[in-house]
Amino acid sequence: MKYEKEISRRKTFAIISHPDAGKTTLTEKFLLFGGAIQTAGAVKSNKIKKHATSDFMDIERQRGISVATSVMTFEYKDFLINLLDTPGHKDFAEDTYRTLTAVDSVVLVVDSVNGVEAQTRRLMEVCRMRDTPVIVFINKMDRDGKNRFDLLEEIEKELKISLHPMTWPINSGKDFKGVYNLDDKSLRLFTANTKADDEDVIAISDLADATLDARIGDRDAAQLREDVELIDGVYGQLNSADYLDGKIAPVFFGSAVNNFGVKEMLDTFIRIAPTPRDRETTRREIAAGEDKFSGFVFKIHANLDPKHRDRIAFLRVCSGKFERNRYYHHVRLDKDFRFSNPYTFMARSKDVIEDAFPGDVVGLFDTGNFKIGDTLTEGEDFYFTGIPSFSPEIFKELVNKDPMKTKQLEKGIRQLTDEGVAQLFTQFGGTKKIIGCVGELQFEVIQYRLLHEYSAACEFRALPFYKACWLTSNDQKKLDDFLRFKQTNSGEDKDGHPVYLAQSEWFLNTEIQNNPDIQFHFTSEIH
Ligand code: G4P
Repeated sequence: MKYEKEISRRKTFAIISHPDAGKTTLTEKFLLFGGAIQTAGAVKSNKIKKHATSDFMDIERQRGISVATSVMTFEYKDFLINLLDTPGHKDFAEDTYRTLTAVDSVVLVVDSVNGVEAQTRRLMEVCRMRDTPVIVFINKMDRDGKNRFDLLEEIEKELKISLHPMTWPINSGKDFKGVYNLDDKSLRLFTANTKADDEDVIAISDLADATLDARIGDRDAAQLREDVELIDGVYGQLNSADYLDGKIAPVFFGSAVNNFGVKEMLDTFIRIAPTPRDRETTRREIAAGEDKFSGFVFKIHANLDPKHRDRIAFLRVCSGKFERNRYYHHVRLDKDFRFSNPYTFMARSKDVIEDAFPGDVVGLFDTGNFKIGDTLTEGEDFYFTGIPSFSPEIFKELVNKDPMKTKQLEKGIRQLTDEGVAQLFTQFGGTKKIIGCVGELQFEVIQYRLLHEYSAACEFRALPFYKACWLTSNDQKKLDDFLRFKQTNSGEDKDGHPVYLAQSEWFLNTEIQNNPDIQFHFTSEIH
């Protein structure tokens, strides 16, 4: 393999969580270990001062939420780690879902007090769809959380994944004393705001050893012995193949804000997390180790500089070597492009790069040539699969408020939907434009951006739909009849695929039952 050395040192992943579980804090600790930032609080204070690397848009600055998905690259123990940030706000969940198509594994943060929350459930669904390997970090052990065994059971049940504890906590809240590393049989005693050097790690090869009692007291030592015996009996050794297949998730306990238990996880992560994986395309499987370059766009970021209407397309390199100034084939447009200023994303700045390898994310300047899902190759025609659109949850009619600006509005909404900000459906037999989003905030973003970037004023009118389903059938006539009969509830997406817009679950289930020859899909592969 030509680029084996580069590929085998790369790990590309995302941290996901329900808001407030500690994703930002954990990200910061990772960056500290990677030397990408020097001081604790750097990521946070960026957020407060509204100059975070991910603060690309005005609206984001105004609201102080992370709309953007940015990429942080750092090195740790000879590994090159690409950490793809995801917006925590639920209204931008679709952005997160798409980012998950560009990573090879994820770290899921669960708050030990709140357990599994709504957003955790949805994110895990996406991971399960793709069999993404997951490591779980149970955070905030310094607070009085749920019983550890109950918590594991809750996560297994709610997230439909088997867990495998790698560390085990000694109490929680005020009595939190540390974690026992079940793998290398060592004890790390809890100190707040630890720098996580190896000094406070005590090797305990035999749990019966009296050192344990001396360190954490008789009662807790006895409890730990009992817990470990139980855990060892139930779980045994971690089977890393099951982890890589997305069947078993290793679990770590800790406290991100205190940088406690994070290093254990990071060290295991670099050991077991997958290197850039082979990927399915419409034509054949593309091995990461192939000589020829290929990659796909999973995210488009608009208007980095408000004076220009530039966009940055985020390209995940899947195989071969990406080089600056070389021509690559844009499969959808059947045209060759080259990029003179491709960006790499270090934690604090964007640097022009000369080349990039599988697992890397490159930022490409774009003047409107890219859509989410676009593929670049060295000439071969294929698309990477598994980059779906998910059904929106809120639907509104787009109403033009200024007939003089119809063209601008059309252009604006087309470009925004290309970026994946929202989905656009057109009702059959009419010109009604229906915008589908995951959250209310997205409508505000659209309205704001149409006005500021395209000088087009619009408003939205609520529509009574709750879900969009993409339709396919082997019997074209049945499908056509259905669409004709259900005209007010159907339309097409931007790529001309037929869609049924359901008013409620009841209606949807009824239609599914009444139309056995039609398949109702809850996600659409973009290609
Ligand atoms: P998010 O990105 O997932 O939304 O969460 P974030 O890291 O911003 O953390 C949410 C809050 O939880 C923050 O408090 C953070 O300090 C706190 N936190 C993170 N890890 C731990 C932990 O291990 N233990 C405890 N007790 N708290 C933790 P905040 O009050 O919102 O912000 P701040 O003012 O403390 O920075």
